[in-house]
Amino acid sequence: MIKRKNILKIAIDSPAAAGAGTLAKAISKHYNLFYLDTGKIYRFLAYHKIKLPKKFNNKFIKLKIKSLKVKDLKKKSLLSDKIGTEASIISKNKRIRKIVHSFQVNFAYNPPKMYRGSCLDGRDITYKIVPDADLKFYVTANLKTRALRRFKELKSLKKKITYKEVLKSIKNRDKSDFNRKISPLKKTKDSLLINTTNLNKRACFLKIKKIIDRKINN
Ligand code: C5P
Repeated sequence: MIKRKNILKIAIDSPAAAGAGTLAKAISKHYNLFYLDTGKIYRFLAYHKIKLPKKFNNKFIKLKIKSLKVKDLKKKSLLSDKIGTEASIISKNKRIRKIVHSFQVNFAYNPPKMYRGSCLDGRDITYKIVPDADLKFYVTANLKTRALRRFKELKSLKKKITYKEVLKSIKNRDKSDFNRKISPLKKTKDSLLINTTNLNKRACFLKIKKIIDRKINN
């Protein structure tokens, strides 16, 4: 695999709806980094599993990942709660994680030349996908805050769902993501904790920007 030298690599892990995606997007824009929301890859596969359950075998998954383009991950249809739940089920599969692994590693270490580096967020980025990242963050917020944020997001997309349903779904996803045997979500010792519970988007960005500036200007 080709690895670009002297690039800035930022790795973020977080539970669902903690604000990591918003933060990662803002950082990527500011520092000109190639951004990947890795949860969207599992959502993309979950979408295909729901649509074509009989076709969903290893060969099919490999083909889908091989031809995967960043724009495929931007589709609004991937944002539903049903797909999020299915994504958390298929992401426990060792073979699926192995197939997805190389796509993520290539993205992180070989971003297009026009970018200064890469920024990935997910569940196992800080210790499995980009273990040598220049900066690692663990972004979190309390459960009710996360559920409310996700509820508002889904409502803005005109999805029919109640706050209670979103809360239950995020609770279940947390349980699965933290406790699964393969690539569980965890805060590594070398990750900086960013708790977004009482911070708005701007405050989160400024907090993380200060840390990144300190590191890159050293
Ligand atoms: O981040 P998002 O909520 O879109 O992720 C959907 C699901 O995909 C997560 O609940 C998790 O189970 C799975 N996932 C993962 N590893 C990642 C990113 C997401 O297992 N790196």
